[in-house]
Amino acid sequence: MGRSPFGSSMSAAASLATAVVVLVFSTADAAPNNLYSYGVLSLKYRYAGQEMSLSAFKAHDIQRQQHLLAGVDLPLGGTGRPDAVGLYYAKVGIGTPTRDYYVQVDTGSDLMWVNCIQCTECPKRSSLGIDLTLYDIDDSDTGKVVSCSNPFCAEVNGGPLSGCTSNMSCPYLEIYGDGSSTAGYFVRDIVEYAQVSGDLQTSTANGSVIFGCGARQLGNLGSGNEEALDGILGFGKANSSMISQLASSGGVKKMFAHCLDGTNGGGIFAIGHVVQPQVNTTPLIPSQSHYSVNMTAVQVGLEFLNLTADVFEVGERKGTIIDSGTTLAYLPDVIYEPLVNQILSQQPGLTLHTVHDEYSCFEYTESIDDGFPNVTFYFEKSLSLRVYPHDYLFPYEGLWCIGWQNSGVGSAERQNVTLLGDLVLSNKLVVYDLVNQVIGWTEYNCSSSIKVQDEQSGTVHLVGAHYITSSACSSIDVRSLVTFALLKVLLVVVFLLQISLF
Ligand SMILES: *[C@@H]1O[C@H](CO)[C@@H](O)[C@H](O)[C@H]1NC(C)=O
Ligand SMILES: *[C@@H]1O[C@H](CO)[C@@H](O)[C@H](O)[C@H]1NC(C)=O
Ligand SMILES: *[C@@H]1O[C@H](CO)[C@@H](O)[C@H](O)[C@H]1NC(C)=O
Ligand SMILES: *[C@@H]1O[C@H](CO)[C@@H](O)[C@H](O)[C@H]1NC(C)=O
Ligand SMILES: *[C@@H]1O[C@H](CO)[C@@H](O)[C@H](O)[C@H]1NC(C)=O
Ligand SMILES: *[C@@H]1O[C@H](CO)[C@@H](O)[C@H](O)[C@H]1NC(C)=O
Ligand SMILES: *[C@@H]1O[C@H](CO)[C@@H](O)[C@H](O)[C@H]1NC(C)=O
Ligand SMILES: *[C@@H]1O[C@H](CO)[C@@H](O)[C@H](O)[C@H]1NC(C)=O
Repeated sequence: MGRSPFGSSMSAAASLATAVVVLVFSTADAAPNNLYSYGVLSLKYRYAGQEMSLSAFKAHDIQRQQHLLAGVDLPLGGTGRPDAVGLYYAKVGIGTPTRDYYVQVDTGSDLMWVNCIQCTECPKRSSLGIDLTLYDIDDSDTGKVVSCSNPFCAEVNGGPLSGCTSNMSCPYLEIYGDGSSTAGYFVRDIVEYAQVSGDLQTSTANGSVIFGCGARQLGNLGSGNEEALDGILGFGKANSSMISQLASSGGVKKMFAHCLDGTNGGGIFAIGHVVQPQVNTTPLIPSQSHYSVNMTAVQVGLEFLNLTADVFEVGERKGTIIDSGTTLAYLPDVIYEPLVNQILSQQPGLTLHTVHDEYSCFEYTESIDDGFPNVTFYFEKSLSLRVYPHDYLFPYEGLWCIGWQNSGVGSAERQNVTLLGDLVLSNKLVVYDLVNQVIGWTEYNCSSSIKVQDEQSGTVHLVGAHYITSSACSSIDVRSLVTFALLKVLLVVVFLLQISLF
């Protein structure tokens, strides 16, 4: 087999027998703003501010004509509680015939990928009680390998790949903020979903979407992970994300919403225009590749933390990232220290224990909602986000542990970042409106339903909550959750693997 950087072929039957993945990546190289090449290796640091623009891809892609007028209802499972599952996932159907895949819903990254048949170290079973499925392009009548000459490939790579000829596949490598990674190549196939067709009713629809076929997953995404899923569904704002692909094919507005049920698990995830409940919004910072907003103040109980304005733009990472793919909430030292001190000052007698070198925990036998203050974050345009003690404290082995994390300690990639994950997003309807470039939320009962508008007829339909049933998982070792926060702060796309098709 060829040793050229893209020694691959899409010829003839496109039967994919072997994938040789050569991973030559060191995380130590992943310094901010690096943009360097190694042959066809191009490492892109996401904070460099480049955004993927797939307008060319869209112009080329005239074959997708599906119409998703009233939106999409994505069934959800999981919980955001670090003491339970620590993540939310959705079920999507892929291929012809369709097989079900369970993917983590992640607004902090831009690609969708699933574990592929070539994967030798992929997780085989999951303690989440779901059956894992490896995607096999040969088993799908509609699956096609995406060529490196496809505009999608050039857009994701920030330009045409050197050495690309039309019979080569388009490889990808994505590294998440927790150091885990997925590497493989892009395929295009039919993705089936539930289209909203009436009140609490859906009909099956499908669209052709490009996603990653993950041939090698490492870290928390690899075979050692017990709470394994089939992949990740990136709902980021770049044009490569599934929401952008579905929106660019027409019909559905580039808007979606989630309501993650922190009490019962599961919740609501809908693509489309939410008209009820109405939410107040704050503008997205245009220069940022994540869903980033400007925080303006932090209140603990009745007291505002005495923070200077520059605190909210620490380091190069300006803004506060909203990320459903992260379990907890990360604050820079300058916010974390006064916040936690202020919270704990309400209960001077507490003794803190450190659990698994990661969490500060204490004993407390009374009601935490009575004994600890609410925390309220304020954002531009007077949007606020209230977090209750039962959200930011979680029980572990008879103790209560603090969910707030200090981003000033630990790996350089996530240093000083302000990132709000499921810990604060649960039990709220969070609306991502990419048409108007705003994001908003309101406290909401995620076991109830929301109203989504059909863009063509103007009719409004109810979309309800789901809980994907699994054979449950009440007690998961906290060690596995410690690293589970997929903090997608450092998100790198590298092209450095070799795939052979014959
Ligand atoms: C790929 O295409 C190039 C040029 O079109 C050709 O030389 C090469 O043999 C092809 N490789 C395979 C494996 O088909
Ligand atoms: C995505 O594509 C649209 C239309 O093709 C374009 O207007 C927009 O700028 C692109 N967005 C990004 C983030 O590249
Ligand atoms: C996708 O939708 C088309 C048209 O609605 C239908 O003919 C086709 O059978 C569907 N494919 C799958 C795999 O569901
Ligand atoms: C956010 O704050 C920065 C300054 O830190 C400002 O330039 C920007 O206009 C603010 N709002 C948005 C939506 O970017
Ligand atoms: C707030 O901080 C500033 C400077 O850090 C200090 O001068 C001021 O006294 C503080 N105010 C309060 C109420 O603590
Ligand atoms: C993080 O913040 C601290 C203090 O605010 C500062 O000294 C440090 O340089 C920052 N680190 C990074 C990587 O920006
Ligand atoms: C937190 O907010 C709720 C709702 O507004 C309120 O009922 C509760 O008293 C607040 N908790 C504290 C400790 O102030
Ligand atoms: C939330 O909504 C569900 C379904 O409508 C209802 O059964 C439940 O009582 C509601 N919970 C609260 C706290 O209102």
